[in-house]
Amino acid sequence: MSEQLIIFDTTLRDGEQSPGASMTKDEKVRIARQLERMRVDIIEAGFPAASPGDFEAVRAVAETIQDSTVCGLARAVEKDIDRAAAAIEPAKRGRIHTFIATSPIHMQNKLRMTPEQVLERAVWAVKRARQYTDDVEFSPEDAGRSEIDFLCRVLEAVIAAGATTVNIPDTVGYNLPHQFGALIKTLREKVPNSDKAVFSVHCHNDLGLAVANSLSAVLNGARQVECTINGLGERAGNAALEEIVMAVRTRRDTFICDTRIDTTQIVPASRLVSNITGFPVQPNKAIVGANAFAHESGIHQDGVIKKRETYEIMRAEDVGWAANRMVLGKHSGRNAFRTRLSELGIEFKSEAELNDAFERFKDLADKKHEIFDEDLQALVTEAGLEQADEKLKLVYLKVASETGTRPQASVTLTMNGVKKEAHAEGGGPVDAAFKAIEAIVNSMSQLQLYSVSNITSGTDSQGEVTVRLEKAGRIVNGHGADTDIVIASAKAYLNALSKLVTTTARTHPQAGAAADGV
Ligand code: KIV
Ligand code: ZN
Repeated sequence: MSEQLIIFDTTLRDGEQSPGASMTKDEKVRIARQLERMRVDIIEAGFPAASPGDFEAVRAVAETIQDSTVCGLARAVEKDIDRAAAAIEPAKRGRIHTFIATSPIHMQNKLRMTPEQVLERAVWAVKRARQYTDDVEFSPEDAGRSEIDFLCRVLEAVIAAGATTVNIPDTVGYNLPHQFGALIKTLREKVPNSDKAVFSVHCHNDLGLAVANSLSAVLNGARQVECTINGLGERAGNAALEEIVMAVRTRRDTFICDTRIDTTQIVPASRLVSNITGFPVQPNKAIVGANAFAHESGIHQDGVIKKRETYEIMRAEDVGWAANRMVLGKHSGRNAFRTRLSELGIEFKSEAELNDAFERFKDLADKKHEIFDEDLQALVTEAGLEQADEKLKLVYLKVASETGTRPQASVTLTMNGVKKEAHAEGGGPVDAAFKAIEAIVNSMSQLQLYSVSNITSGTDSQGEVTVRLEKAGRIVNGHGADTDIVIASAKAYLNALSKLVTTTARTHPQAGAAADGV
């Protein structure tokens, strides 16, 4: 019997800290349901003190999820811990994750606190969190650059104060695998009460080493890994859940532990997160990239046909690639539609919502005769976006483009219910459509990213467009999907513009001392 490696997913918290990846409450609940289906042990649902919206989202996840522990992040301050406790209160199993930085550079420049003050504050925070739940995790932020003796003192003290998990973050992705593994080994040996807590790791990918560092830690006794779907996360991201899980599962000869993860849910989870955040998955990404199991060269294909193991160390179907199948078509009825969506974890709040989604499905089925799970996911995301989009709605779009002339676009929108029209020329049809929209909205935002990818294969596939806009330091992502990519682009642009108008300020958990409230 192998030991359990606990999978702590932070897609909804650290993942959401990627610029532009913010998610609505309903989107978070959809992702949380998929994580639960995948048998993730702990879902870090957010940072409740960031804003009222973040609080509500964590609470909604806590109300929905039954089989995974739901966790809320809190800085080591009273307000954050109390908010996190209130947000996870409905959870069947709830955890508070509190943290404070322990590296000299963070203590001096960010917190402006002495090491003794930090130690005292860490103990205080754990004790306060323990008043609400028995499941308390503590992280010494920037542990990867902290002094070992001080780190040992802090860990010993927080475990004595009641922390049941101690998480060692390589916050800035600075460590190398042999060093990080050695750090975990040393901490487990030197901290006198280390056997009273689970050792966890949280690695960032700034040098592309997040997974390697996490696995090195596991080989040295860490029994929880914090990770995200598709490696989403602050800056270069976090360790990718799918890579950690499949490395441990595939190399059972080396690891003495394994996870509870249902690996066939990995690809659906990857698609859902990519669809909701608009962060595409690169084709050569391990496990979940479109090419991860594709064989180009004849030699490889021949080998795989004769004996799969010649070139494949994992089976595509074991990580969920088989789920990519035609599920519904033009003649499918409402019941089949509702049933398949329910199998995907999507429930409708009302008959009206179901009817609206079914109408969209019928429109899509007129344009595309095979409807895949990914199409259904995009359709539901679209429906959610439009509800949030009430301020800006696309009514009509006409583009004209032919060789030798400048493309033109005519757009009609409703802006707060008022119909407005504009016409513009552009370098291409998408450029013309965006210029016409901007002529109406006058947002003065900067386009930072425009990307199109196909949701399924074939030229009748829906194009999924992501648009990233920046204005006065605020970054938002918008998404749109349609079999016509110019329409998908206009929808994505409007979605981003709507977010720019409606999103409210949020506190970043790792912001400076003033915002820390310390
Ligand atoms: O990277 C980090 O240090 C974090 C902490 C809040 C755990 O995300
Ligand atoms: Zn982090």
